[in-house]
Amino acid sequence: MSIAIGSDHAGYPLKSKLVEFLQHNNIEYKDMGTFNEDQVDYPDFAFKVAKAVSSGDSKLGVVVCGTGLGVSIMANKVRGVRAALCCSEYMAQMARAHNNANVLSIPARFVSLQQALGFIEIFLNTKFEGGRHQTRVEKIPTKC
Ligand code: RB5
Repeated sequence: MSIAIGSDHAGYPLKSKLVEFLQHNNIEYKDMGTFNEDQVDYPDFAFKVAKAVSSGDSKLGVVVCGTGLGVSIMANKVRGVRAALCCSEYMAQMARAHNNANVLSIPARFVSLQQALGFIEIFLNTKFEGGRHQTRVEKIPTKC
């Protein structure tokens, strides 16, 4: 399973640790940047991750910025992408199980590395439940 991951400068320190985790666990990933703490614009990196997921190049995505807000707003503009801003392990679990989210958005300024790693592990290992949740997800149109 290939994971696309990206962040802005505010998310970079956490994102670099998350990349180390993916490497360490032999999880295939594509790092879409940014690669240092120089100021950048979060939509550029969220868009790259979202396009990788939308095109099928990556099965799931992870986006990180200071609040997780900007990257999730951007990612959700891309066809087929359901990005979920998660602040707890329960949200990460529900994002997959009920919303079939395919991009996890992490708020770097509000979570520890341990929490973020927990979100990723749960997000990658939880399956969509389908059924009534499928009906609901299908009611979310893609207009772009
Ligand atoms: C950068 O300062 C900050 O605005 C960005 O990381 C993010 O929180 C935007 O939503």
